[in-house]
Amino acid sequence: MNPDIIPRSVVVKVLISEENIQRRVTELALQISNNYSVLDGFFTSPRLLIIGILRGAFIFTADLTRQITIPHEVDFMALSSYGSTTTSGEVRTVMDLREPIENLHILLVEDIIDTGKTLSYLHRILQGRNPASIKTCVMAKKPHNSISIPIDYLGFEIPDVWVVGYGLDYNNCYRNFPYIAELRAEIYS
Ligand code: XMP
Ligand code: MG
Repeated sequence: MNPDIIPRSVVVKVLISEENIQRRVTELALQISNNYSVLDGFFTSPRLLIIGILRGAFIFTADLTRQITIPHEVDFMALSSYGSTTTSGEVRTVMDLREPIENLHILLVEDIIDTGKTLSYLHRILQGRNPASIKTCVMAKKPHNSISIPIDYLGFEIPDVWVVGYGLDYNNCYRNFPYIAELRAEIYS
């Protein structure tokens, strides 16, 4: 998409440009590759499983994994907690992993953290399956969360507004925008 073409009827402004996103993804992939490759015995066992959280993180996961240079596998989980733009506070697993994760290194890839409930829920259920480790990689974080688990790799801090693009949606639309942009309040109010 030509980044100069911004649908003003939908978007207030672009918060993170396509170029900035791509630059940050490259940096994160490099950090991740370096950090795991220095783990003792990493190249023999255990393995690294990257888990993308559907649907919002599908583009981020695809971009990130293509730049990670160490051996890894990819799977997806689907979680649900939100209506259009408001949280119900209750997180559900809509689609689970295919395989057990015992003794695997897990890297969770999430699109965005708001309250932190989704990532905390996920961390708790996966911890119960005895992986070798769990790390988290999050594209964007809003300011007011009380999340107790660490974000090991963070793309960007963003203001407390509803954002769309780069996988993020409103009513399942606008995921294809190559940038992250603030949605017009008129769209959802
Ligand atoms: P919590 O509150 O559990 O929320 O940290 C995280 C989940 O909520 C969704 N979310 C958004 N999705 N634009 C979106 O498209 C947003 O601005 C936004 N804020 C939260 C997202 O699915 C994330 O997994
Ligand atoms: Mg999500």
